[in-house]
Amino acid sequence: MVLSTGRNKVRTAVFISGNGSNLKSLIKFSKTKKSPISIDFIISNNSKARGLNYGKLFKIKTKIFGFKNIKLAESELLLNLKKENIEMICLAGFMKILSNNFIRKFKGKILNIHPSLLPKYKGLNTHRRALKNKDKYSGCTVHFVNSKLDSGKIILQKKVKITKNETESSLAKKILIQEHKLYAKAILKVFNP
Ligand code: GAR
Repeated sequence: MVLSTGRNKVRTAVFISGNGSNLKSLIKFSKTKKSPISIDFIISNNSKARGLNYGKLFKIKTKIFGFKNIKLAESELLLNLKKENIEMICLAGFMKILSNNFIRKFKGKILNIHPSLLPKYKGLNTHRRALKNKDKYSGCTVHFVNSKLDSGKIILQKKVKITKNETESSLAKKILIQEHKLYAKAILKVFNP
């Protein structure tokens, strides 16, 4: 990744829509010495996202954008990211699709975490689909974001075994635990390929 990795950590924004458990683990990782990034901005499309509380807790600037008018929201968002000198974006449970124009502006600098072993199960309801297909394994993927949904270059994946009486929620929980580890590992890999 062509980012300045000098002495200062790369200023990063995390985009969320819900609980923000991945955000929390990213913040914790960012505070370690080995982390190449700092989390300086939290963006949400949802004013009720529980994850916004981590902004208060860790004293990180937060901003909510109603994505009803996507063009307007994104142009305001871009201005805000620029003002905060944001160089990199981590999507963490962000349930809106960014436009090609936006993605182009941060080309190669947007990462996403997805709860499946991509290219399997792009989009929503990944756990339900894995169970319905009687898959033996599922997992999670960290990948670069490109103009096609959940299709950018894969950075890292972690496989998780699906057990006999697995339910959608038990599988989601198991995978989420792995997501928290995988995102940090993937960031380290991006900066130290
Ligand atoms: C995570 O499982 C993440 O992989 C998924 O939403 C959850 C968010 O949890 N993301 C997507 O499905 C994106 N398409 P969190 O808010 O606790 O981090």
